[in-house]
Amino acid sequence: MKFFIDTANLAQIQEAQELGVLDGVTTNPSLMAKEGISGDANVKAHYKAICAIVDGDVSAEVIATDYEGMIKEGEELAALDEKIVVKIPMIKDGVKALKYFSDKGIKTNCTLIFSAGQALMAAKAGATYVSPFIGRLDDISTDGLDLIESIRIIFDNYAFGTEILAASVRHPMHIIQCAEIGADVMTGPLSAMEALLKHPLTDIGLAKFLEDHAKANS
Ligand code: E4P
Repeated sequence: MKFFIDTANLAQIQEAQELGVLDGVTTNPSLMAKEGISGDANVKAHYKAICAIVDGDVSAEVIATDYEGMIKEGEELAALDEKIVVKIPMIKDGVKALKYFSDKGIKTNCTLIFSAGQALMAAKAGATYVSPFIGRLDDISTDGLDLIESIRIIFDNYAFGTEILAASVRHPMHIIQCAEIGADVMTGPLSAMEALLKHPLTDIGLAKFLEDHAKANS
């Protein structure tokens, strides 16, 4: 399973890259705003800065919601760097835009997926990735992991090349369960990735090894 970090924070992207397990980055307009990035030139410069850090796909979301606007914006974003994946919302014009970019060989990530039907539509239109938001489904008392499972079955039934990018990941169990189901990618915070490597018995065991070594060598 590929690990993407879901942030526009350059320091966190750098830290995840240095950890050696990072395969890409996802951003969205809220995450860009959180970093105080605004204005077309600044937004584009920030995407270029992210691409300079990471080895892998970097999702950059369009703001337009009409077909022509999404095509114009998406083409400008894709021209910034070959790592850019154009992130398109799951709306009717978005599906048309996915098809346009797919025909042109430009990678896409269809975002705001909350049902298997939406994922199927995006895959039919040739999306590179679909992003089901599991955390936001959990937030409304609906099991987000059921959606990952359902999309996995559908994509496998028809051998769709579209990758399942489990998004809105909130904690390490989300990552483990997505891996069990067979999501192709997960995107989440650095904290969720780092939580995977922690275990109290590891810390206790290491302390004992070091203590015994120190005694034997004193
Ligand atoms: C995915 O691409 C989105 O940016 C993201 O995962 C949304 O996560 P949230 O529900 O924690 O905002």
